[in-house]
Amino acid sequence: MHSPSKSPAPPGGGGVIEARGLVKRYGEVVALAGLDLTVPEGTVLGLLGPNGAGKTTAVSILTTLLKPDAGTATVAGADLVGSPGEVRKRIGLSGQYAAVDEHLTGFENLDMFGRLYRLGAKRSRTRAHELLERFSLDFAAARPVKTYSGGMRRRLDLAGALVAEAPVLFLDEPTTGLDPRSRTELWDVIRDLVNRGSTLLLTTQYMEEADQLADDIVVIDHGREIAHGTADELKAMAGGERIEVSLRSECRLKEAMRVLARFSVGDPYTNELSVIAPVTGGAQTLTAALRALDAEGVELADVGLRRPTLDDVFLFLTGHVAQTENGSTTSTDNDEENPPARNRRRARGTRRSKEMTTPTTPTMKAIVQDGYGAPEQVLKLAEVDRPAVGGDDVLVRIRATSVNTPDWITVTGTPYILRLKSGLRKPSTPVRGTDVAGVVEAVGANVTDLQPGDEVFGSLWDSTVATSGAFAEFAVAPASQLINKPAGLTFEEAAASVMSGLTALNAIRDVGRVGPGTRVLINGASGGVGTFAVQIAKALGAEVTGVCSTKNLELVRSLGADEVIDYTEEDFTSGEQRYDVILDNVMNHPPTSTARALTPTGMLIPNSIGNTGGFFAGLPRMARATLMRRGSTDVQFATCVANRENLDALAEILTSGDVKVVIDQTYALSDAADAVAHMLGHHARGKVVIAI
Ligand SMILES: NC(=O)c1ccc[n+]([C@@H]2O[C@H](COP(=O)([O-])OP(=O)(O)OC[C@H]3O[C@@H](n4cnc5c(N)ncnc54)[C@H](OP(=O)(O)O)[C@@H]3O)[C@@H](O)[C@H]2O)c1
Repeated sequence: MHSPSKSPAPPGGGGVIEARGLVKRYGEVVALAGLDLTVPEGTVLGLLGPNGAGKTTAVSILTTLLKPDAGTATVAGADLVGSPGEVRKRIGLSGQYAAVDEHLTGFENLDMFGRLYRLGAKRSRTRAHELLERFSLDFAAARPVKTYSGGMRRRLDLAGALVAEAPVLFLDEPTTGLDPRSRTELWDVIRDLVNRGSTLLLTTQYMEEADQLADDIVVIDHGREIAHGTADELKAMAGGERIEVSLRSECRLKEAMRVLARFSVGDPYTNELSVIAPVTGGAQTLTAALRALDAEGVELADVGLRRPTLDDVFLFLTGHVAQTENGSTTSTDNDEENPPARNRRRARGTRRSKEMTTPTTPTMKAIVQDGYGAPEQVLKLAEVDRPAVGGDDVLVRIRATSVNTPDWITVTGTPYILRLKSGLRKPSTPVRGTDVAGVVEAVGANVTDLQPGDEVFGSLWDSTVATSGAFAEFAVAPASQLINKPAGLTFEEAAASVMSGLTALNAIRDVGRVGPGTRVLINGASGGVGTFAVQIAKALGAEVTGVCSTKNLELVRSLGADEVIDYTEEDFTSGEQRYDVILDNVMNHPPTSTARALTPTGMLIPNSIGNTGGFFAGLPRMARATLMRRGSTDVQFATCVANRENLDALAEILTSGDVKVVIDQTYALSDAADAVAHMLGHHARGKVVIAI
C-alpha cells in the first residue's frame, strides 16, 4: 500500500491550503463574502455552516470547479487561478454525491479512475486492488456498484478520490445519508488517511463528525467566517450548561417549552421528544426547573444537565440546528419549525396588550429588522401594525429618536454572546430604538397625568429587547418612563438626551458621587455618553479631564473640560495625573492599566461593551474589571435608569443651560440604517438622531 506523497511546501510556509478573501457572487446573491482559510499539513479543517452558508462554493473554488470573483488561494503550493491544472494534480475530491458508475463493478470504477488520471494500465489495476482492500471492499470487487449499500458506495467514492495519491483531499459532506455504523466506519478510514499524512478539508452537517475528525473548525454563515477554533474552544464560547429533558408524551411539549423558558438564558428548542434549554446556575437551576415541570404535570422520561456540544455551538452561532439524521431540522427561531418558541415570543411581544385602546389607524411605518448583520442589509422600512396600548402605557407619535449602543448591538448581533438574550437567529422583536420624543396619541386606561396632544420624551428601555421600538412612527412606552418635554428643547434634543444623558447622570451623580473639586476623567468624552458626562461633572463642580481624538479637542473643551487629552498623542493610563473618578466609555485599555491612573481611593466606572464586535467584544474586560472589585480597586457600574425622577433631573439640567445636547447628525426614518452605521463607526461626535 502507498502513502500519499507529501505536499510540496507552500510558498511562505503557510498552510497546505491557503485561501485569502475568496468572493463568489451569483447575481445579487453573495455566496462567499471574503473567506480566509488555512489548513496546515497533515491536519483536518472542518468547515461548518447551515445550508447555503457557502461551504460547497468554497470547496468548488478550491478544487478549481468554480472561479472566484475575487481573492487568492494556493493548494499544495499551486496557485488556484494561475495554475489550476497543477492544483488538480495535487488534490482528490469526494463530493456530496457518489461519483461512481452504478453499472460498473467496484474494481472497474477504480481502474477507470486510474486510467483517467493517466496512471497507466498496470498501475491503475494495482492501485484499484490496493484501495479495495484498504476500504474493505475487496469482497465486493467484482460486483456492480448498484448492488452496494450506501456505506459501501461512499467508501468506494472516497477510494476514487485517493486513486491519484493526492496529498490534499476535499471531502464535501462525505457521510451525508449514511447510517450511523457506516459513518463510524468511514471516520476510521478518514483518520487513517490523516495518520498517513493527508491534509483534509472536510465540510459536514454532522457536528459529531467535526468533533471527531477536525483539528480545527471554521464556522461560516452568509459566506463569511463567524467563528474559528478547536471543537473545545468553540464549545467554551457557547458557555453555560444545557438542561435536556425527554418527555413521555409529545402533547406536553408546549408546556415543557413554556416552563423551561422561565429558566433559560436563550430560547429553548426541541429535538423530537426532548426540550433543550441553555441555562446558567447548574444543579440549582435544574432542580428549580424540574420542580416547575412537576408542578405543571409534565412527565419526564429522562433528564440531564450537560456541557454544550458542537450542536449547541452551531445553533448559538447560526440560529439553525444542524441537520439531523433524517435531514429534518429543529430550530428556536424559525417560527414554522418551532411553534412553542413562536408562541412564547408572541406572548412576549404582546405583554402590554391587555386592556387595549384601539388606535385610529391600524398601521405605521417602521424600520424592521430581519436577522443580524450590517445595518443596510437587515434594516428595512416597512408598513407594520401599530403597537397596542396597555392600561399603563402611552402611545406616542414619535417625532425623534436617537441611536444607542443597545441598538447597534442588536442590529449586528455582536458580541454574539448577547444573542442569548436578544434571540439566536434574529431579535425577538423587530423594531429597534428606545429613546422617544413626540406627541401623545393615546393613553391606557390607568394613565391619568398624560393626555393626547402632550409633548413628551422618555424611554422604552427596560433592559431587554424593547417590545415596541422607536424607529417607527409610533411606539408604546410605559407612562412611568415618560415626562412632559420642556418647551425649550427640540424633539431632536430631547430624544438625543435620554439614554446617553441618563447613563451619564447615573455614572457621575449617583455612582461617582462627583462634587466640587472631584477630579474626574472621562474616556470617550466626545461621544454620546461622554458629552453629557463632561457637562454634568462640570455642573457638579468637578475638575474634568476629557479624552478624545485631535478633531474633538475643541468640542470637549467647549463643553467645559478643564483638561483635554488627545489619545492619539498621549496615553492617560501612563501619565502622572491621578483621578478620583474615571468614567471609561471606551475600555480600549485593560482595566488594570486604567486603574493605575486612579488615586488610592479612586473609583473606576467601566462603561463599555467595546467596539470590536466578535464573540465577546469588551465583555472579558468588563469581567476583569468586575474581578478587580475583589482587590483594593473601587469598581462600580453605571446603568441607564429610565424613570420619571431621573427624567425630571435630566430635563432640569438641560433647561438650566448647564448641559447642552450635542447632535452630530440627524437622519430621516427611511435612512435609519445609515444612522446605525454612523454609530457603528464608533466616532460619532455626540449623538446620532433620527427625526420622523
Ligand atoms: N451603562 C449603560 O446603561 C449604558 C448605556 C448606553 C451606553 N453605554 C456604554 O457607553 C459606551 C459609550 O456609548 P456612547 O453612546 O457614548 O458611544 P459613542 O457615541 O459611539 O462613542 C463615540 C465616541 O467614542 C470616542 N472614541 C472612540 N475611540 C476612542 C478612544 N480610543 N479613546 C477615546 N475616545 C474614543 C470617539 O471619539 P473620537 O472620534 O475622538 O475618537 C467618539 O466621539 C458604550 O460602549 C456603551 O456600551 C452604557
